[in-house]
Amino acid sequence: MELDLVTKNKLENLLDGYSLKELKNVSFEIINRYQNESGKGNVLINDDLRSKVYAVTRFPATYKVVSDILEKSLQKYKNDIKTLIDFGSGSGSASLAAFNTFELEKITQLERDDSMIDVGQTLFNDLPIKNVSQYFKFDLTKDELKEKGDLVISSYVLNELESKERINSIKKMWESTNKFMVIIEPGTPIGSEIIKEVRSFVISLGGYVLSPCPHMNNCPIAENDWCHFSTRVSRSRLHKALKEGDSPFEDEKYSYIIFSKKEVNRCNARILRHPLIYNGYVSLTVCDQNGIENIKISKKDNKRYKLARKANVGDEF
Ligand SMILES: C[S@@+](CC[C@H](N)C(=O)[O-])C[C@H]1O[C@@H](n2cnc3c(N)ncnc32)[C@H](O)[C@@H]1O
Repeated sequence: MELDLVTKNKLENLLDGYSLKELKNVSFEIINRYQNESGKGNVLINDDLRSKVYAVTRFPATYKVVSDILEKSLQKYKNDIKTLIDFGSGSGSASLAAFNTFELEKITQLERDDSMIDVGQTLFNDLPIKNVSQYFKFDLTKDELKEKGDLVISSYVLNELESKERINSIKKMWESTNKFMVIIEPGTPIGSEIIKEVRSFVISLGGYVLSPCPHMNNCPIAENDWCHFSTRVSRSRLHKALKEGDSPFEDEKYSYIIFSKKEVNRCNARILRHPLIYNGYVSLTVCDQNGIENIKISKKDNKRYKLARKANVGDEF
């Protein structure tokens, strides 16, 4: 689901009064910081203008990613999900995506940075989500939490932590989880590696993988490959100007994993590459019980062939 126009406009109004030149400089500085300083435990954004520019350039994409993941994998557990804890909530895109997917009664937004909290609070000020959500200043690496949520989300946060801080943080989030925990990272080799690390750690704590993996065996992704998916996000005029691109959309790549506290039914296979359509058959690269394999779906297998032709990367098969 794309971010709605009202929220998009509210986001962009945050930048009223600044010159485009100044905003572009800040936008490129943020991109640089994320490219060069992630994973070192450094504070990447900690002032008002940078938080606003970050929100305008990133909120629509992370909102769409979280929305897609929740809709595809957790929609069917809708009635079990009434409370959310959003770790490293930033300007609140994951909270809003969850609010728009489920009927949430309480959202706890935990964030270390004051300027991010300010932006999120301003944004949510007169939106319906305000009635159920509340921000708390919280450092995932230092502070303790007694509360639990039916759903716990960490979206694009773990890659900002030093690797030694990650394990404790994951443990903390898992202990705060009543039912489901969703971890999302950028769809890069590093993001995918973090997801792989989270996967084996949470399985060792007794967690069950719900999605995207069709099994609980060791992750079969090759050393030189990475598990990621992609979603298409439309771009506003301001977004294009800030990032100096003409394309009306961008493809946001992400890696993710969802855990459940209870055993769940997993899919048979997950499509990892764009389906290739040949004369008489479709070739799919999937992850399944046998690891990663290429399967041919013949035209004679009418029902599965039709499904395969319409399938996309990331779909269950
Ligand atoms: C890339 S932003 C993602 C924000 C939001 N979750 C989203 O998906 O758009 C990462 C956020 O994590 C927060 N963060 C980083 N380290 C943190 C920590 N140790 N404790 C709490 N928040 C943290 C940052 O301040 C920032 O707001």
